[in-house]
Amino acid sequence: MTMAARHSLTLADIYPVWDCDEDDRLICRAVYAETHDIKTFVFAPAEPRQFNFAPGQFLNFEFPVGDEGVIRSYTIASSPTRPFSVAITVKRLPGGIVSNWLHDHLAVGDVVRAVGPLGEFSTWAHPSDRRLFVSGGVGATPLMSHVRRDFDLGEDPDTLYLHFARTPKDIVFRHELELMAFRRENLKIAHVVERADDERFWSGLRGRFSPQLIATVADDLLEREIFCCGPAPFMAAVRGYLASQGFDMRRYHEESFDFEALPAAEQEAAPPPPDETLRTYEITFAKSGQTIACDENTSILAAARLAGMRLPASCTRGLCGTCKSRKLAGEVEMAHAGGIRQREIDAGMVLLCCSQPRSNVTVDR
Ligand code: FES
Repeated sequence: MTMAARHSLTLADIYPVWDCDEDDRLICRAVYAETHDIKTFVFAPAEPRQFNFAPGQFLNFEFPVGDEGVIRSYTIASSPTRPFSVAITVKRLPGGIVSNWLHDHLAVGDVVRAVGPLGEFSTWAHPSDRRLFVSGGVGATPLMSHVRRDFDLGEDPDTLYLHFARTPKDIVFRHELELMAFRRENLKIAHVVERADDERFWSGLRGRFSPQLIATVADDLLEREIFCCGPAPFMAAVRGYLASQGFDMRRYHEESFDFEALPAAEQEAAPPPPDETLRTYEITFAKSGQTIACDENTSILAAARLAGMRLPASCTRGLCGTCKSRKLAGEVEMAHAGGIRQREIDAGMVLLCCSQPRSNVTVDR
């Protein structure tokens, strides 16, 4: 290499950007506890690569759980300013297949697969110099990525970080946030707990999300861009309150991959019965042996739900990849939003939530 060529090298030449289409394997590099039931898992590729993502984005992971593996979306908690690894922070959920597997089995050196980054739950997509970050439980992760980024870059936008937890020992990232807030004038942290029985001298706020509480903490609420992440009922409460206050909901953004709430979400998302004026096709599920009808304007997932079937799904928007299935026969029209790769499509995979039949179809479910 000549001297001139060496001088023209950029960081991207030395450490290329991670491309999941090139190699989707990530190695677990570190595991550490954040609280008594929340752990952070750090991943990096085998060769150094830079992750190119906006704070608030997520990855679709495939974990080797069971015979077929399980796909789950996790928002990135680490900052894009530290681009050589990504971290996810996961709470152990009672009965949660993936969260328990991660806590009990995933160890340093293990390999998982991931696709992304994806998503628009980010100040990058919705810029504002006055933000309210509101989270419940481990919903803090995408917001933490933002706070870490701002801190690393020496930026100090007006940010109110409002977090709800059960008790003080359940507050995730507590000490790191307090340290950052100590060093930044415009970063304000408000932790709210339901009970403080595990911390004798708790002097912070107590309660659950309520109009009174939020009015106390954020009296300039209506002037802020609001980013909310947490369990589905929590976000519904925040959304309902803001709408009742005449908040411009175009300035409200939320994100959740609440797999525990799946049955309720399925009921909520139940589509109307098939329209008989449309072309209707037969969808056969090879493993269960079930055959259902699905019209040309309905997704296979929606028709399956209407028929009472339980299939894995989360976002229902073609984004998270949870409903990915192998198509054994037939034609579909699929309008996905990044939750599947071209090479998977070429290999016969489809996302059932955004695939409408164009013939009789058989899927490997
Ligand atoms: S449910 Fe998320 S891609 Fe289908």
